[in-house]
Amino acid sequence: MLQRCVLRTYHVLALVLCVSAREDFDWTKNEKTSFYYSTFPTAGSSAYQTEGAWNIDGKGMSIWDAFTRKKGKIFLNDTGDTTCDGYNKFKEDITLMKDMKLNHYRFSISWPRILPSGLKSEHINEKGIKYYEDLINMLLDNKITPIVILYHWDLPQLLQEKYGGWQNVTMVNYFNDFANLCFERFGHKVKYWMTFNNPWSIAVEGYETGEHAPGMKLKGTGAYKAAHHIIKAHAKVWHTYDMQWRSKQKGMVGISLTADWGEPVDITNQRDIEAAERYIQFYLGWFATPIFNGDYPQVMKDYIGRKSGQQGLGASRLPVFSPQEKSYIKGTCDFLGLGHFTTRYITPKNYPSGLGDSYFTDRDLAELVDPKWPDPGSEWLYSVPWGFRRMLNFVKTQYGNPMVYVTENGVSEKMVCTDLCDDWRMQYFKDYINEMLKAVKDGVNVKGYTAWSLLDNFEWDEGFSERFGLYYVDFSNKNKPRYPKASVQFYKRIISSNGFPNQREVESWKRKAVETCASSNQLLAADPLIGHMEMVSEIVIPTVSTLCILLSAVFLMFLLRGRS
Ligand code: NOJ
Repeated sequence: MLQRCVLRTYHVLALVLCVSAREDFDWTKNEKTSFYYSTFPTAGSSAYQTEGAWNIDGKGMSIWDAFTRKKGKIFLNDTGDTTCDGYNKFKEDITLMKDMKLNHYRFSISWPRILPSGLKSEHINEKGIKYYEDLINMLLDNKITPIVILYHWDLPQLLQEKYGGWQNVTMVNYFNDFANLCFERFGHKVKYWMTFNNPWSIAVEGYETGEHAPGMKLKGTGAYKAAHHIIKAHAKVWHTYDMQWRSKQKGMVGISLTADWGEPVDITNQRDIEAAERYIQFYLGWFATPIFNGDYPQVMKDYIGRKSGQQGLGASRLPVFSPQEKSYIKGTCDFLGLGHFTTRYITPKNYPSGLGDSYFTDRDLAELVDPKWPDPGSEWLYSVPWGFRRMLNFVKTQYGNPMVYVTENGVSEKMVCTDLCDDWRMQYFKDYINEMLKAVKDGVNVKGYTAWSLLDNFEWDEGFSERFGLYYVDFSNKNKPRYPKASVQFYKRIISSNGFPNQREVESWKRKAVETCASSNQLLAADPLIGHMEMVSEIVIPTVSTLCILLSAVFLMFLLRGRS
């Protein structure tokens, strides 16, 4: 996030959507007043961010367990050790989902929870398997379809220590073994699989800037190498499913890519247009182009190759796929998962080679934001709904109109905010979902939508300071109570109305949601009192009782001695 901020100064789910009208894409149809209908009820979570129970029931350590133990890496040195305690509270959470009428739930499986050392050949943790079986069974019993991500960033720590994690090509086979085990154990019930969540972040923040686990700062090489192995691992897992499981289990395997939209600062300036195109190709295209078209985007090959040459390197810092690898990787996607949160304006900026080459300088561009864009929470997250429609149309035209499941979309608030009446989040969802529905009208093949996230959770290097949840979680209380924010009511209305009927009605939903959240605010305000009462019953009462018994015993002894 730091990197994003530095550059910036310069610069829920899814039912089949009913809207299917096709029209040619036309930006001028960006009318602010149009409202659309559809159904799209899902919310999401990920293992490390919500489960807690970091060392319970035989779970092995992940790179995030190790990273968060290093002082100064995470805001306030927070860890995901307990976080929302989703491991113990999943039944309660499914009740929340049911109440919201979500029909899908997107979550991830913790690799070290089921393979503590990372290796299938060494030990399978049956207790970890049982946890996910119970979760999946209960979701299905409640008619909520599980959508499962195999890797949301929590690599087994032993694989990091022994092999250097995603810097090492051996991860491809180890990840495939883990995925194969998941297909074997859960595949008769799970029909939607995604290999990786947001590989851009794994590569760039894990191996380039070091802001995320495993914290490596291999500028200009680390991210490209990690991404290369991740793409190969994705393709291998897709082929494994295709060859061994598809005919029996009849599911689908995709990948979830996250990207911001890049808009040229001046849409009449060719250099701005090219810079914005580069921004998106280095972001989404880095992963999507090999998977859909067989190789890295030409612009990445050109820019990184040229800069590597200027550095005096014999070969490009961007690794190369062999012809066999290209055809093996091409087409390994039954659907595309898309995470999207925000937009940047883009203009060219020349970074002379040799002055600390990195992924960021390789792109030769600057990112800018409009100070008028709303910016309620995370520093990097500006609300720019129209960027979502453009991003979806880009996916349609670049990758042959694949099936798209929106896997993450939402907005945060800062830690200090304990106001459950989150009108800015309702506004964000209203605007972004409506732009998505316009994209559906444009002919983009969107099949589902996931609000990020069901609960406030551990926001990586930002710890608990940024809250994305529909539900507020009181992390200071050991029971981790959940309180509905106003957006829960609002999202429920969108679901029950199958979209947006009209402006007036949607405004009335917002008003009603704000009215009901006032009572949740009171409950939350009473929470320190509840915490205090717990302290009274768990610490004060037993201590005072023990002291009373001791004093009575001493008093009795004196009394008896006095008599004798
Ligand atoms: C995308 C990541 O996948 C998710 O884990 C994170 O919470 C959100 N971005 C918000 O930063």
